[in-house]
Amino acid sequence: MTEALRWTGDAIEYIDQRRLPHETHLVRAQTVDELESAIKSLAIRGAPALGVFGAYGVVLLRQRISDNEAFKAATERIRNARPTAVNLSWAVDRVLAAGDMLAEANSIHEEQRAIDRMIAQAALPLFSNGSRVLTHCNTGPIATAGGGTALGAIIAAAQAKKNLAVYASETRPLLQGARLTMYELGQAGVDATLIVDSAAAVTMQQKRIDLVIVGADRVARNGDTANKVGTYGLAVAAAHHGIPFYVAAPRSSFDFTLPNGAAIPIEERSGDEVRQVGGIAITDPQTATYNPAFDVTPARLVTGFITEYGILKPPYSESIPELATRPNVGALA
Ligand code: MRU
Repeated sequence: MTEALRWTGDAIEYIDQRRLPHETHLVRAQTVDELESAIKSLAIRGAPALGVFGAYGVVLLRQRISDNEAFKAATERIRNARPTAVNLSWAVDRVLAAGDMLAEANSIHEEQRAIDRMIAQAALPLFSNGSRVLTHCNTGPIATAGGGTALGAIIAAAQAKKNLAVYASETRPLLQGARLTMYELGQAGVDATLIVDSAAAVTMQQKRIDLVIVGADRVARNGDTANKVGTYGLAVAAAHHGIPFYVAAPRSSFDFTLPNGAAIPIEERSGDEVRQVGGIAITDPQTATYNPAFDVTPARLVTGFITEYGILKPPYSESIPELATRPNVGALA
């Protein structure tokens, strides 16, 4: 399978995720405008992939911009291109602080691949033969530039256990579930069933879902979790049905500086994403909209966090600060 993104030496080459699953269109980003627009338009997306992209973006900008003030301004634009996924600012800051920027960006990418394998390994005991699992948005290889977090774990489990039943929600408005998750499951040879977002609760009830696993864009120190809009509703419905609700996320998606979810910046996107489907108007162009790209699931609804260091359980006031003290995965791998 084509990689989500790669450093070519003078550009970042990436798959334009807006054109999947219909075509695997590779694009080269070389300027700050191209980097910023790739991020803002969701041509490149998914919290860990944004981190890897931002890391190489800093390397690229340093190569091309010699004036320090102009370089700083350009890196700020990348750092702030999307506000919710903390991986982006985390990776930009990590590369900026490094002596050898390219080596650091390569490490971030390499570590992500290792982390994704470790998350899949940690998640395996949560599945049994015949487990019915529901996921949301897209958290597979193209969302991490590695093997994927929640979806990577589901794919690994489907390959290791028998008769897993996988349900994916379409993820309006931009349909990451329908377009990207179904595509990646197909590529991995895993059968899955697509549902509309509003069928999630009835699917839990009627199909007897055993497990919900989603990704994260930013987890606060108390475990409140920002992820693709619709995640909160899934967590509420899962709690109602007594279904375990897990968040799979690398440590780089935890923001240890934020006390709780109220402090997480939530991106609001254009109303046209709601008024249109695939560029086709489905309502009056003047229709008022509310289009938060993410919501925050309260920590009490999260059964556990599947990380590269294993599964974190409540009380999160203890297990999350403890996560901050663990050695870097580069040292573990
Ligand atoms: O707006 P997106 O498509 O970037 O949102 C992606 C998500 O919400 C994912 O669940 C999250 O980034 C984790 S990706 C492993």
